[in-house]
Amino acid sequence: MIKPIYLDYNATTPHDPEVIEAMRPFLEAEFGNPSSSHWYGIKPKQAVETSRRQVAGILNCRPTEVFFTSGGTESNNHAIRGVARRSREKGNHIITSNFEHPAVLEVCRYLEADGFETTYLPVSEDGLVDPADVERAVRPTTILITVMHANNEVGTIQPIAEISRIAKKHAIAIHTDAAQSVGKIPTNVEDLEVDLLSMAGHKVYAPKGIGALYVRPPLEPEKFCFGAGQEMGWRAGTENVLEIVGLGKACEIAQQDLENNMARMKFLRDRLHEGLLGRLFDIRLNGHLQHRLPNTLNLSFKGLEANRILEEIGLEVAASAGAACHSDSVEISHVLKAMGTPLEWAMGTLRFSVGRMTTEAQIDKTIRVVADAVNKLKAVC
Ligand SMILES: Cc1ncc(COP(=O)(O)O)c(C=O)c1O
Repeated sequence: MIKPIYLDYNATTPHDPEVIEAMRPFLEAEFGNPSSSHWYGIKPKQAVETSRRQVAGILNCRPTEVFFTSGGTESNNHAIRGVARRSREKGNHIITSNFEHPAVLEVCRYLEADGFETTYLPVSEDGLVDPADVERAVRPTTILITVMHANNEVGTIQPIAEISRIAKKHAIAIHTDAAQSVGKIPTNVEDLEVDLLSMAGHKVYAPKGIGALYVRPPLEPEKFCFGAGQEMGWRAGTENVLEIVGLGKACEIAQQDLENNMARMKFLRDRLHEGLLGRLFDIRLNGHLQHRLPNTLNLSFKGLEANRILEEIGLEVAASAGAACHSDSVEISHVLKAMGTPLEWAMGTLRFSVGRMTTEAQIDKTIRVVADAVNKLKAVC
């Protein structure tokens, strides 16, 4: 069976073969518990600490500032809930955007039920948060600003360093959800000037169910899981050694190849965009033209339904929809809504996200397949 071309790397990535090789010993011989003081615990313990150094490498922080979690969602939960609880005496106000992943939005909503207040900043039509809006939203009671580094649907990259400087000026903690940016663009916490950063393994060619949270001292993560003293006493439970090893290796590879990878992603993404522009009318790019992840192409096909296009191309190309059309309604993603994308465009929105395993031949085939599908659907409209 010939599989469809995979162009959904923002949803998840395949495992890098080197990541699999790095993990293999921990699936086979090295089963020991890293907390064991005997022989079997030595290698797993060393492997966890090697991985912490590798993750710290891609974030340019100290290994002691990296905590392993089960992924982006958990990291965001720890970051936001941790700061909220620790700063309760100081205030109850959080600033975020209406453009965030549910793993941030839902945490804010949960905290609102607990007496916190949230300002959801708007974004421009290409998805940018305006730092001036952040400044205007600051209150004496603001304890946290959380704005994502790069958006998962349209790829827009936020001016995090600028927003961080506003946070610093007012002594407010700043968190960024970098689940989509780590491994795709630089994520140096010194350049971004953030206090907390979330990342997810399955977006960087490591397994699902592993992630990390960076916490800048003197901030401390809230003790989230009670039990034995793993993860510096902060997240109890025997470490997921296998996946921690995979995450570390994936970060090492991503860091080494970052420049080349960025250039190659951009080349493939732009080839797809130009190829479709050359064969179709009525295409709209969603997201910022320049400040955008190099692998992400979010396009609207005017007047068409995203799910119908996906059905047409599904045997040959795997991409994702930005809207779901039902018999009597259209459900548009909150990201497209936040950007004010008009309905006749938004309903026909597809996200293509390329990755390390994508080839030029796959892009050329995708252009043909998508153009044929769109032309066919337009003919019957
Ligand atoms: C921006 C962003 N944040 C958070 C997450 C959640 O990460 P995880 O699936 O590892 O919990 C995702 C995953 O799609 C994401 O794209």
